[in-house]
Amino acid sequence: MANVLERLPQNVSGDFFVDSTCIDCDTCSQLAPATFRDHGQQCSVYHQPGTAAETKRALMALVACPTGSIGTTEKHDWHIGIAAFPSLIAENVYFCGFTSESSFGAWSYLIIRPENKGGNVLIDSPRFATQLVKRIDAMGGIQRMFLTHRDDVADHELFARRFGCKRIMHADDGARRLGVEQIVESEEELQIDEELIAIPTPGHTRGHMLLLYKKKFLFTGDHLAWSSERETLTAFRSVAWYSWPEQTRSMEKLLHYDFQWILPGHGDMHHDSTQKMHAHLERCVAWMKTRS
Ligand SMILES: [Fe+2]
Repeated sequence: MANVLERLPQNVSGDFFVDSTCIDCDTCSQLAPATFRDHGQQCSVYHQPGTAAETKRALMALVACPTGSIGTTEKHDWHIGIAAFPSLIAENVYFCGFTSESSFGAWSYLIIRPENKGGNVLIDSPRFATQLVKRIDAMGGIQRMFLTHRDDVADHELFARRFGCKRIMHADDGARRLGVEQIVESEEELQIDEELIAIPTPGHTRGHMLLLYKKKFLFTGDHLAWSSERETLTAFRSVAWYSWPEQTRSMEKLLHYDFQWILPGHGDMHHDSTQKMHAHLERCVAWMKTRS
């Protein structure tokens, strides 16, 4: 729970506030943009929630915040924020909320599928919070866990143990050391089942991988995200831990795939037609080449 004595001066006065423990992961400003904004090195409240819908989004941000940096001076039913997760994005794809500080507030996702399709898939690990675990259990548990890269594994072990699911990860990001059951060794794509394709994309890290679901939903980890500022797809040059030229090459490889959704670990998600996504990806590759 946030400490009102540590309330950041950038907050407007009133009920909701962010305290000095904020790590600037932007989860709150993405989840509740009517209330929170990134004011530079941290986030703060720039507008107090004025409607029930805005209050719900602000409570969701409070629950999702990896560092518990959001607080209120008035009493609220936190259950409103807790029960909202996993939160539906589209069709059978959900955002888990409950981000973890160990993955710098990276977003994780859940695909709900019947058993005959291979069952539910967790993409990267959220915080192992009792309330979330109960909700996931009620939605059918987890049959598979896809780990995009080493930074966003968070509480993978606890989830794997609790749900007995099989984890998939690339060898070059330490999958063996983490005790992962299915280890990808090569740079070739891997058809996991009828609907899921793992696509190795070295760059951000050496063993980074994306997951493509039904040629529609692309879970991109820290390889690729939407930039609301530039209104196109982008990559993060300053955190290309392994190699920016490799990441550019991996990005070019994606031009061979169709997708309509970008669901990243950090940065904004985006939905568009396959054609428009392709055009955005071409722009992104061209831009990356100018930055090497
Ligand atoms: Fe990362």
